[in-house]
Amino acid sequence: MALTTKARLLAFFEANKGVYFSGEELAGRLSVSRTAVWKAVNGLRDEGYQIHGASNRGYCLSADTDILSLQGILKYLEPDCGRLDLEVVPVAESTNFSLRKKAEAGAKEGTVIVAGCQTGGRGRVGRSFFSPEDTGIYMSILLRPPHFLPDQAVKITTMAAVAVCRAIERMAGKEARIKWVNDIFIEERKVCGILTEGSISLEDGFLDYIVLGIGINVYEPKGGFPGELRETAGAVFEAHQDDGKNRLAAEVLKELLSGSQGETAEDWAEQYRERCMVLGREILVLGRGEPARARALDVDDSCRLVVEYEDGGREVLSSGEISVEI
Ligand code: BTN
Repeated sequence: MALTTKARLLAFFEANKGVYFSGEELAGRLSVSRTAVWKAVNGLRDEGYQIHGASNRGYCLSADTDILSLQGILKYLEPDCGRLDLEVVPVAESTNFSLRKKAEAGAKEGTVIVAGCQTGGRGRVGRSFFSPEDTGIYMSILLRPPHFLPDQAVKITTMAAVAVCRAIERMAGKEARIKWVNDIFIEERKVCGILTEGSISLEDGFLDYIVLGIGINVYEPKGGFPGELRETAGAVFEAHQDDGKNRLAAEVLKELLSGSQGETAEDWAEQYRERCMVLGREILVLGRGEPARARALDVDDSCRLVVEYEDGGREVLSSGEISVEI
């Protein structure tokens, strides 16, 4: 599909943030008329991009722009994004929901939807996921691992948790820790949740596809987190970062790509264990009638949580909820 002038102009501006170009120069570089440039500039301004214009200098995309866009993410990804088919939208009801529809229609592995906000963001066990604009990254990645059984899906969630931690640590220089199975914390506050959904083939019981949904609170929302989130939620950054959202989205995708290439499942499990904040702690195992007190002993190489109940009985959990005093 041919790119619009607006999309090409955005890619050019994203690669040259803070630098002025005359209308004539932009028209020449994009092989379009100056009127087309002017229209594209206005179109981008309508989308919220701050584009400075000065009669003697031309146009410039403000250096501190921080809007999620395809062009903004791709500039950090190339050339290792060959396997990704990336779509970035300002608003989605739920990126997991949109991607499931695409998966049902035959979308390939590596299809990704990233949204700047969600109107119906979904969390685990039927909860909602707070996804306002100008705050976070909400993304879903489609995987089609061959001969993959539903109870192996925990491996995908845990690999994603490690990938997000690594991306956060590299960009923010902060230690990110994981609450089994899918919550990522910085300094005792949840900054990211992961929701892995799949569709099982009734013919052979293997998964047809997996949708890996990742929601990251990049910044605190204006006015702070609402209601009960005020006590528990946090953000990766305290203050605005130039291009923070595009960069972090790209870092997460890079980590996921590198993870599916080089490292073994045991490597990921080891990294998961190192970051797992529940090991050795008293926890409550939820979701099976009465909450049961237990101690989290280990995460095995399949990333299942080994727990010991008060009566000495042990169990290996591959899904479910736990709560931990923090
Ligand atoms: C949780 O913490 O319970 C999991 C939250 C997962 C949120 C992400 S945001 C992108 C994707 N789309 C959704 O609707 N949910 C996931």
